[in-house]
Amino acid sequence: MTDLLELQKEFIKKHLFPGGIAADYTMGNGHDTLFLSRTAGPRGRVYAFDVQAAALQSTALRLCRGNAPQNYVLIHDSHHNAGKYVTQKVNAGMFNLGWLPGSDRTVFTRRETTLPAIAGAIERMAPDGILLVAVYPGHSEGDAEGKLIHEYLSSLDRRKYMCALFRITNSPASPFFYIIEN
Ligand SMILES: C[S@@+](CC[C@H](N)C(=O)[O-])C[C@H]1O[C@@H](n2cnc3c(N)ncnc32)[C@H](O)[C@@H]1O
Repeated sequence: MTDLLELQKEFIKKHLFPGGIAADYTMGNGHDTLFLSRTAGPRGRVYAFDVQAAALQSTALRLCRGNAPQNYVLIHDSHHNAGKYVTQKVNAGMFNLGWLPGSDRTVFTRRETTLPAIAGAIERMAPDGILLVAVYPGHSEGDAEGKLIHEYLSSLDRRKYMCALFRITNSPASPFFYIIEN
């Protein structure tokens, strides 16, 4: 059966090549950071963000054990501040919203910062770039966050951006994701 979270990576691979610039806007345990680091290769650059120190520790360990190229910078700050750190255009960006798997679930992404972070990430996209946003419904903040993101992406000028939604229609509580291409 199709794994939606694995499917995301297929889209990324069409936009991120060796030497490219990537951003993991929700680092978590670093699975996505490792994937982006390997895909961008030693001449590329990956910026990864999280508000939890535990996420940076977990990701650093994963990158080390995974023999990731030394092309990454792990940033302990909220993704809505990404513009302070990322001055280059970004070929591929990822948001995997929600909470840190394995944590006590007290820290999770919130619409007040997620929306400005997504807007900034869209402005930062390189020509022919891609942004991926995975939403985890099934809890009140995830539902509200998902609705706002949907409204926002639906309002973008279709002459500039293509926004698509991938969702399991007969499982509305399952995670779903958007791709934004310019
Ligand atoms: C579902 S996890 C991400 C999974 C991750 N991409 C991976 O591969 O393991 C969501 C992460 O977003 C982080 N987060 C919450 N609010 C944030 C914010 N304002 N800026 C950056 N990260 C945030 C959480 O701490 C959590 O680690």
